[in-house]
Amino acid sequence: MKYVLVLFYSRYGSVATMAQHIARGVEEVQTIEARVRTVPNVSAVCESTEPSIPNAGPPYVDIEDVRNCSGLILGSPTRFGNMAASLKYFIDSLSSLWLSGALVNKPAAVFSSTSSLHGGQETTLLSMALPLLHHGAIFVGLPYTEIDLTTTQTGGTPYGATHYAGPDNRNPISDEEQRLCRALGKRVGEITCLLSQQASK
Ligand SMILES: Cc1cc2nc3c(=O)[nH]c(=O)nc-3n(C[C@H](O)[C@H](O)[C@H](O)COP(=O)(O)O)c2cc1C
Repeated sequence: MKYVLVLFYSRYGSVATMAQHIARGVEEVQTIEARVRTVPNVSAVCESTEPSIPNAGPPYVDIEDVRNCSGLILGSPTRFGNMAASLKYFIDSLSSLWLSGALVNKPAAVFSSTSSLHGGQETTLLSMALPLLHHGAIFVGLPYTEIDLTTTQTGGTPYGATHYAGPDNRNPISDEEQRLCRALGKRVGEITCLLSQQASK
């Protein structure tokens, strides 16, 4: 079965919850599965090492998960307006996929969470879009036909799904944010399905 890889890093849980909503959106497309994976924390060699299996949540990603996906959705909390180092560290290990063109023409999208409303959601989304474009993926955003984009009081952008978690990370994912997560997953799922059908003709 073809799958869309939903690959995220999350420290406090917001991005992890968004990943679940996005995965549900992907799985609204009957012929496509969602495969949810995370990345370990990075730390300097003199700090700590992580167990090879996470204590909770989805497994750590393997490079083969990325090579064999039919679509890819990346998620990260905003870190000073950028993606988190842990996700970037994994992306930086993907040279062999770039060399072989493994992600060329595969649909891809991005999502993020911030503690402040204007604290860099869109720049973080774009920071994840850059490597996807280098890899030749087809970047998928959210169209304004998603009415929640115009009514949301918190997250949600045409560049991808976002969440405003608040200063203490306690804000639940709002209804608009949830629907936009789902819509993004479904959109990537649908485009993945269409491109796969086209490729098999
Ligand atoms: C080192 C660091 C940098 C951060 N930078 C920003 C930032 O630039 N803008 C912002 O609004 N929130 C920032 N945050 C807050 C996180 O983006 C926010 O808490 C996010 O919702 C966490 O997602 P998670 O629950 O998936 O870990 C930062 C947090 C940390 C630890």
